[in-house]
Amino acid sequence: MINERQWREFLSDGYEGDVKFMEPMRNHTSLRIGGPADVYAIPQDLLSARNVLTISKEKEIPFMPIGGGTNLLCRDGGIEGIVISLNSFRRIEVVEEKDGEITLFVESGTPLQKLVNLSKEKGYTGIEGLAGIPGSVGGAIAGNAGAFGYEIKSVLISTALMNVEGRIKRIRIEDLGLDYRTSNIPAGSIILSANIRLRKDIPEDVANRIDGFLREKRERQPISERSAGCVFKNPEGTSAGRLIDEAGCKGMRVGDVEVSPMHTNFFINRGEAKASDFIRLMEAVKSKVMEVFGIELEPEIRIVGRE
Ligand code: EPU
Repeated sequence: MINERQWREFLSDGYEGDVKFMEPMRNHTSLRIGGPADVYAIPQDLLSARNVLTISKEKEIPFMPIGGGTNLLCRDGGIEGIVISLNSFRRIEVVEEKDGEITLFVESGTPLQKLVNLSKEKGYTGIEGLAGIPGSVGGAIAGNAGAFGYEIKSVLISTALMNVEGRIKRIRIEDLGLDYRTSNIPAGSIILSANIRLRKDIPEDVANRIDGFLREKRERQPISERSAGCVFKNPEGTSAGRLIDEAGCKGMRVGDVEVSPMHTNFFINRGEAKASDFIRLMEAVKSKVMEVFGIELEPEIRIVGRE
């Protein structure tokens, strides 16, 4: 465990940016669940981010990168060590425009919807199906975010990763192991930025597709409630939501966590929910689906933290 005094000692003149101690993770997750992180750091620049990583390696303090906290269940005991957010890294730049293609450099703390909005405004096609997915670009890459047959993977060219030694490397997309809602980005690395390639299209057509997907999402998903998106991955050839629904789990509840009546693969925090309630509800739903269909559901959300 690292405390405020040690942090100041270790990073005396090597850190610029916001830092909080014993910071409740519920302030940083869309579920509004999660105990305290020993340290929650939002470095302002690359040097500060790098110093946090090198110190954590040198002093053997665990660290965890966080994106928008939108696909995350943090346990009630909070997070050991340092949570590092690249929320201050939000630059988007045009790298190249040619033959109807546009290459963008995007920093990982950029909200994914800022990118989607840019594509809508300029008529760049390729990420329409990502409309309405909350979270950051870094988080979207780490979990290969997708919907409506679109995945972020298909527009990525490369990413820049910083490893525990503070070295920055450009990694080709083929080497990131991006697959359905997963990647093999090493646990000790953080995503700094990505180059993505979109194609020019008619702005009105791009806008229409985006608006259509948003409409569908609003009709089928409880997007304004406190959730972490879909809890379970879709098993091969079927939908977790359909299985959970048909197994009779709609409206099931543990503490303040409820299976959404609107889309059963979303679990909602109806008040002061605890992570332990959420996990108990996951287990109850999982065993019901196993009992009725003989299918084992696998979590899509990332579960982190101390018990
Ligand atoms: N269904 C039910 N009951 C429910 C929910 C769904 O019967 O409570 C049925 C629907 O009627 C439909 C089928 O199941 O026939 C599929 O449902 P839907 O179209 O809503 O898609 P999904 O498979 O549940 C997937 C992704 C979503 C993504 C949508 C749209 C996963 C786990 N889910 O949901 O992604 O937004 O397609 O493309 O891959 C996420 O990853 O967090 C997520 C929400």
